[in-house]
Amino acid sequence: MIGYQFMGKMHSHAYRDLPFFFDTEARPVLQAVAGRNEAAVKQAAEKMGWASYETDWRRLIERDDIDVIDIVTPNHTHADMAIAAAEAGKHIIIEKPLALTVEQAERMAEAVKRNNVVHMICHNYRFAPAVQYAKKLIQDGVLGRLYHFRGNYLQDFIIDPAFPLVWRLKKEVSGSGALGDIAAHSIDLARFLVGDIHEVVGTMETFIKKRPIGEMVGGLSAKVDSDQMGEVTVDDAVAFLARFENGTVATFEATRFAAGNRNKNTFEINGEKGSIRWDMENMNNLEVYLTEDAPGLQGFRLINCTEDIHPYAGAYWPPGHIIGYEHTFIHLIYEFMKGVTSGESPRPNFEDGVKNQKILAAVETSAQTKQWVTIDY
Ligand SMILES: NC(=O)c1ccc[n+]([C@@H]2O[C@H](COP(=O)([O-])OP(=O)(O)OC[C@H]3O[C@@H](n4cnc5c(N)ncnc54)[C@H](O)[C@@H]3O)[C@@H](O)[C@H]2O)c1
Repeated sequence: MIGYQFMGKMHSHAYRDLPFFFDTEARPVLQAVAGRNEAAVKQAAEKMGWASYETDWRRLIERDDIDVIDIVTPNHTHADMAIAAAEAGKHIIIEKPLALTVEQAERMAEAVKRNNVVHMICHNYRFAPAVQYAKKLIQDGVLGRLYHFRGNYLQDFIIDPAFPLVWRLKKEVSGSGALGDIAAHSIDLARFLVGDIHEVVGTMETFIKKRPIGEMVGGLSAKVDSDQMGEVTVDDAVAFLARFENGTVATFEATRFAAGNRNKNTFEINGEKGSIRWDMENMNNLEVYLTEDAPGLQGFRLINCTEDIHPYAGAYWPPGHIIGYEHTFIHLIYEFMKGVTSGESPRPNFEDGVKNQKILAAVETSAQTKQWVTIDY
């Protein structure tokens, strides 16, 4: 694994917990973690259970006792690391967004294909049992034809103008702001549940243009390093309309300025026979409305997706004994480990990452040109 902070901790936990709950032929061994600061990476390795560490990610990739490279570093590092790992014949699991640009993403997808390695991108929200169950309801035709997808991803962790200029706010490191950081997840949910997006039109805004220099210190917390100010070069908020290839229409909104919304990742889908709603902050629940319900009984029903019938839920506790955010990553790693055995790259993989990146780029182009942009797949 390269990187060891927010997502590094999350992935380490998922590798450790996977065999506790799921049986897989391929089992993760926490062989080595890489970071640039020796004291810090040594401490992280000890705390998170990695057997060894490297201070240069290229050295990690060269090691022949390693089969999988997990990339949990900021976005500007993804392309070089993934392409080097693919050339070394390592299977790859990588955090989102895949890259900074479509061009980088396509080179990465080409490298994993050419080297025939298994690849996956960490859009973890797909793997909540309630979201998987929503997918099953849609596939079974329970909602009929789909008319609307409404995806919101609202956070507020940078609303304070004193929150520092961290890597997430620099275009050359992150690619984009709320767009690639969180709208990318809503786009993945939309693609998973509804299908491919055909065209988009959107707007983006940066509310706070300068911030004190600083860095992330784990999770979504940060510290100010200096009294110098630097320029924010990404969007603070984005909103866009989309039309899917199957005729469904969508609205998306993503912001890190929605006061009071900590991680409000939600979607609602309206179809000819009913609607479904999901909210990450109550991630075990799915709300379902069916037009066929008897008059007088009509209303959204609340399904707690913790029964054996709900994907992945049966691996845990009795019904009603809920699971959390970290479990979405255990499920993702479970699918990845099955992929390592079968040789098939699970979804979402680098091809999904490229499509997602094309939608991100189209939204940016649209915000600049104030025109609808068709996605060129
Ligand atoms: N799936 C999700 O829900 C989710 C959530 C948060 C972040 N992410 C993604 O995960 C990735 C990492 O984000 P994070 O929040 O963990 O960031 P973070 O700032 O908490 O951690 C980044 C880690 O990368 C290391 N690093 C930075 N540059 C490096 C380099 N050049 N070489 C080696 N190591 C380097 C840092 O030392 C740190 O350990 C990003 O791509 C981000 O978009 C995904």
